[in-house]
Amino acid sequence: MDKFHIVGPSRLAGRVRASGAKNAALPALAASLLTDEPLTLHSVPRVRDLRTMARLLDHLGVANEEKGDAGTIVFHRTRPNNPDADDAPYDLVKTMRASVLVLGPLLGHFGHARVSLPGGCAIGVRPIDQHLKGLEALGADIQLSHGYVETVARRLTGARFRFDMATVTGTENVLMAACLAKGTSVLENCALEPEVTDLANLLNAMGARISGLGTATLVVDGVDSLGGAEHTIIPDRIEGGTYLIGAAMTRGDVLLENGIAADLAPLLDKLADAGATVEVTAEGVRVRVDNELVAKDVETCPHPGFPTDLQAQYMALMTQARGVSSIRETIFENRFQHAPELARMGADVRVDGASAHIHGPTPLAGAAVMATDLRASACLVLAGVAAEGETVVDRIYHLERGYEGMELKLQKLGARVARWSTTPAA
Ligand code: EPZ
Repeated sequence: MDKFHIVGPSRLAGRVRASGAKNAALPALAASLLTDEPLTLHSVPRVRDLRTMARLLDHLGVANEEKGDAGTIVFHRTRPNNPDADDAPYDLVKTMRASVLVLGPLLGHFGHARVSLPGGCAIGVRPIDQHLKGLEALGADIQLSHGYVETVARRLTGARFRFDMATVTGTENVLMAACLAKGTSVLENCALEPEVTDLANLLNAMGARISGLGTATLVVDGVDSLGGAEHTIIPDRIEGGTYLIGAAMTRGDVLLENGIAADLAPLLDKLADAGATVEVTAEGVRVRVDNELVAKDVETCPHPGFPTDLQAQYMALMTQARGVSSIRETIFENRFQHAPELARMGADVRVDGASAHIHGPTPLAGAAVMATDLRASACLVLAGVAAEGETVVDRIYHLERGYEGMELKLQKLGARVARWSTTPAA
């Protein structure tokens, strides 16, 4: 297993570009199941979760071919879907819960699907009841058997459905299925994350008829079939936000060249509130800090609230801000696993149920730490960059699920970080 070896402290300064958004690319790949024509996607990030999804699509008869080196991949059905095989087998789904995103497209296009229930994961139970309720509202017959979801529908029928809570992939799954339903669907209380809107734009480019984009009510006029399309994945606001937090944490000065200010607004407002200088120009989004930051509370919320995917990174930042800050995690029940590792580096952090309290600033000392999940890994890498001395972050395979070339991007910004490969040389 590879590790990151970091020597700090470093000040992060310069320009960086976010890769395509992992959480927009995953549903976009799943959308290739809705058509028999080629789907060309640009800016697909080279991260582990997308490789996993491409493997699942290949298992389902959709091959992929890279074109050039800018993350352009063409997805094209080359084999019929095998109705007798497990569409999404447990050994794939257990490594990536977003595999569940094939459920809606398979049901919408083929009228049946057999997908393993995703187990929980490090950050929480993460049920999919809303996905299933939404598909049932469209007329699907859902059976749960031996850890699998087995669903059948001759043809889905448009319906009105209201999600009980904002769910990103739940909205995406039901939205994709509704595109091929007979009649109109009105989906209420949809998630507002930019990645949902990016998917809706892709689906409309494929011939879907979705209106209400960017609002909590999506209206879908079902069509008989969808065609191929060409689409560019939006920049990753969570990856980009991670580097902007790194700038603030090291009193640096970073320009996120392809940052979309509207998508980053919840973070940018909080950074400005804490005393950072935030500039949005034609060149991109710039964050710099010239003096001490002030501790500011945050509560994670569905978009447009503060994103749970930046919570761990924000905790690392608050260890360097003056005062006491409270972080309340309202989305997932176990997303503070980075706290004890930060404490080992010198942070004064106390977890109390769904809240964490940080007293700062405290000097951070390099240490050997272990990543537990994707965003906790990013938090520990930022802490290592700001810490005095050497930090070794183990199990960075978590990090590689969602960060493309992180060590290279950090090196370009001035960090001293190297990858230590512990796997035997081939
Ligand atoms: C998406 O996960 C993201 N993943 C997550 O990013 C992100 O943290 C999360 O949205 C919240 O923004 C992808 O888009 C692939 P939810 P998702 O359904 O869709 C509960 C990362 O780090 N819920 O919006 O699985 C659920 O338990 C990852 O990139 C139900 O109860 O999250 C959670 O408490 C981590 N029943 C809340 O809703 C359901 O059927 C929000 O979950 C669905 C969700």
